[in-house]
Order: sequence, then C-alpha cells, then structure tokens
Amino acid sequence: MKGLSNSIDQAILNLVREKSSGKNAELPLKQNVTLSELGLGVLDIYDLIVALEDRYQITIDEQEGPADAWTLETLSRCVKRKLLQKSSQTLNWKDLFENLIFSGKVRALRTPLTVHLDLTFRCNSRCIFCYDSSGADHGRAELTTEEVKRILDECEEMDVVEVQFGGGEPFMREDLLDLVAYTKKKNLRIFILTNGTLITEEKAHRLAALMDRRFDNIQVSLDGARPEIHDKQRGVSGNFEKALAGIRNLQQSGLSPVVNTVLTKLNYAHIPEMIPFLIEEGIQVFRVLRLQPLGRCLNSSLYDELKLTPEQSEYIFEFLFEKREELFGQLQISKDNACIFPMSSRTLRSRVLPQPGREPVSDACGAGTSKLAVGPDGSVFPCSYMYEFPELRVGSVRENTLQELWDRDELWTLYRNRLTPTGKCRGCEYLYYCKTGCRIISYAIHGDMGAPDPGCYYEPAGLQGVREGGDQALRVA
Ligand SMILES: C[S@@+](CC[C@H](N)C(=O)[O-])C[C@H]1O[C@@H](n2cnc3c(N)ncnc32)[C@H](O)[C@@H]1O
Ligand code: SF4
Ligand code: SF4
Repeated sequence: MKGLSNSIDQAILNLVREKSSGKNAELPLKQNVTLSELGLGVLDIYDLIVALEDRYQITIDEQEGPADAWTLETLSRCVKRKLLQKSSQTLNWKDLFENLIFSGKVRALRTPLTVHLDLTFRCNSRCIFCYDSSGADHGRAELTTEEVKRILDECEEMDVVEVQFGGGEPFMREDLLDLVAYTKKKNLRIFILTNGTLITEEKAHRLAALMDRRFDNIQVSLDGARPEIHDKQRGVSGNFEKALAGIRNLQQSGLSPVVNTVLTKLNYAHIPEMIPFLIEEGIQVFRVLRLQPLGRCLNSSLYDELKLTPEQSEYIFEFLFEKREELFGQLQISKDNACIFPMSSRTLRSRVLPQPGREPVSDACGAGTSKLAVGPDGSVFPCSYMYEFPELRVGSVRENTLQELWDRDELWTLYRNRLTPTGKCRGCEYLYYCKTGCRIISYAIHGDMGAPDPGCYYEPAGLQGVREGGDQALRVA
C-alpha cells in the first residue's frame, strides 16, 4: 500500500479493516480516503481510536479537525507524532469524542469513557464548602472491596478509559492501594483526588510502584500558599503542612501530583503568590475550581459570602490566562469547564468566537453521555455533584450492572436530551460552546437544567432580539 508501508501504518490499516468489515468489502487503500467513506460511523471511529489508544496512547491534535473527516493518513500522522513526542498543543481524544456528543452527532457513547468512584464520604478534613458535606461517618454502608473490584471488572469489559477515585477522602479507605493495584491489573487509567494529608512516605512509594506516570494522575487539594489561607478553607488547622508533606512524599517517590485550588473570596487574591510557590515546590500542573453551591454551600448564605464577584472572577481568569501562556513549559495551568465560568472572561470570549469553517471544541461536560459517577453506597449518578438530589439517581451497582444502567436510555434523558435553554441563555451567541454551563448547578439553584449557570456573569449581546422575538425555543446543538 503506497505511503502506508511501515508497521504502524499496517497496524492502523488492520484495525480499520476490522472495524469496517461487512461495511465496505473493497477498501480503497488510499491515504486520503476518509474514514466515513470507508463505511465507518462515528461510533466505529470511536472504537477504532480506543483500540489505537490502547496500543499507542494516541492523542489527536486539535488541528486535525472533526473525526468523521479523518483519513488513514490522519491516524498515521497522529500516532507517529505522538510516538515522536512532537505534539505540544494536543487535545485528548476523549475531549474530541465528547465534542461529537455536544455537536449532536451522537446521543451518548456506547460505554462511558470515565467512571468516577467516590469510595467514601468519610473525611479527616472539614472544608467549609465541601460539596459532599464530607466528614464524620455518614453511617451509610460503603461498597466493600469486593464490590468495588466487581465494578472495576465491568469497567475493563466496557473499555472504560479512566477510573477516578474520589470521596470524601479516598485515603480513609484501608483498601485504597489494593484497589489501585487491581485497577492497574485491569489496564485502566487512574486519577486519584485527595486532600494529601494521609499520604505517608510509605504510601507514596507503594502508589508510585503501582501507577504509570505517563497516564495516571493524582491530584492534591491546596487552597493557598500559606497555612492561614489553606487551613481556613479546609476547616482544620495543621492541614496545610500535612497536605504539603503528602505532596512532597509523592514527588520523592517519583510521582508528579497536580495541585487543585477551590477559588473563593478568601483566597483568590493570593493566587498570584501561589504561582511562584508551586514552581518552587516543583509542581507541574495547577488546576483551579470555581466554587459550587452544593453540599455545605447549598441553600446557605455561605455560597453568597464565598463566591467571587463578576469583577474578581474576570480578574482571576485573565490573570491565569496570561500566566498560562507566560509559563508554558514550566507550569501547566489547566483550563477546563469547571475552572472559572469561561464566559466571564473577555479574553476567552474573544478567542472562542467561531472561526470560519470550524466550530471550536466545547468545554461542556460529559455527565451521562461519556461519564458516570458511583457514590460510596453504589448509587449511580451522571456526575459526582448530584448525590444530594435523589431524584437524579439512575440506579445502583448493587442491583444492576453498569452496562445495564448505561443502556437504559430512558433513565438518562435529562442528560442525553438536548436542553431547552431558558432565560438569558436563549439569546446567547455562546450557547453552542457553553451549553448553559453546568446543568447540576443550574438545577441546584433554579430547579431547571436549562437555566443559566449562576456562575455566568455574561450578558448576551443577542438577548435583546430574543426578548423582542418572544419565546422562540433555541435548542442546544
Ligand atoms: C470532594 S473533594 C474529594 C477529594 C479530596 N477529599 C479533596 O478534597 O481533594 C474533590 C475536589 O472538590 C473540591 N471541592 C469540594 N467542595 C467544593 C465546592 N463546593 N466547590 C468546588 N470544589 C469543591 C475539593 O477541594 C477537591 O479538589
Ligand atoms: S473537600 Fe475533600 S478534604 Fe474537604 S471535606 Fe470534602 S472530601 Fe474532605
Ligand atoms: S448566557 Fe447562558 S449560554 Fe451564554 S454564556 Fe451565559 S450560561 Fe452560557
């Protein structure tokens, strides 16, 4: 086959043949033929990429465009670029497929890509805003080790890519390392979310021996560069030193933890001093999370006290945006949908405007379409923010398999159906990108998933026209 002569190309071709068998018996073996011309639908392409992911840990460059226009050559180029470690501005293919959902091309993936497992609601900290209201034992029966392992078996069968262990504090579970070892045996990626305070040298070494630092990650919460700031948010004095010790133990054992900060009025002004601190501490990835009005923040005046004003929100977004570029290659400042409400930033707005011929990748979330969450008692929800809304519970792993639950489409309509936006979102020119923000936050505050995310301070330019035009139902595309 001309131009596809080496072993990588041959492997790709074999996979494409496998996926398209019965669809196109006579494959035109040319590099420039698109995968859809070869008879592959979007879900076939998704399966194909999962297979390539397994083999090559492929990432697809954003510049490669929509997946259904990829050719054999696109795949070949991406794999080689990855293998040669030349890609710097890469998008995870996971995001790319999530975008297929957001663009309305598929309703949900055949199986979830990410399974978030909250192992406990027990916690040794008492964060003032904890969205899980974690702390003392809630007295609810947690999944046993064997039950969690059964879920991991299922994840393997379902070709799940990443399992996230959260809580509560996952290190409160005696069996956490056993579960990590089991997850790696199943060839699943791991992401652990922790407050870091229980990570001893010994635990860090055992974790490092299990985790593959190319694909697995551990995130430690640190809400400031000084004890008085961190401990105030975390509700326990001495917590800062313990979290920092946990981070250093992980680093000494060869892991590179991500640091995550929840932004509030108490700490946002300290973020600029946190950056040199993180660099000094050898941190490579820094994430921020906007405060969510859930758990201890739900129905309380605390959210109003702690949440950033529109000006503070814009200031911090602009600051991080600039720093992200300035510190490229030194400290990665991650930008994702949970970060700060993106439309609060003028800079971002000006950069996400549609470019001719191409819609930008959406930052909207994949709850119920590419990811699900399992609570400590086995309850299944589209996302871990939803546990306090029993009416949004989809089922339980104690009664059904994950696949059975995922396949019962009628249970997921709230998340898989297109939203009918309400309020100012109806006339918003950024609706295609933001999809009204976080559905659960809108639900928590307004009781309506299509209502504007309360974190959005943007006043849409097109609102006037919609108000004048009455109730025209815009659909989230
Ligand atoms: C629920 S915690 C569980 C993991 C671990 N105990 C920890 O604190 O990192 C997961 C993440 O959510 C953050 N978080 C907790 N409550 C929040 C809220 N109301 N809004 C935004 N983030 C929150 C935590 O700081 C942490 O980064
Ligand atoms: S945010 Fe994490 S550390 Fe804080 S109380 Fe909740 S579970 Fe515990
Ligand atoms: S008005 Fe609605 S659609 Fe527009 S940016 Fe805000 S939340 Fe998103």
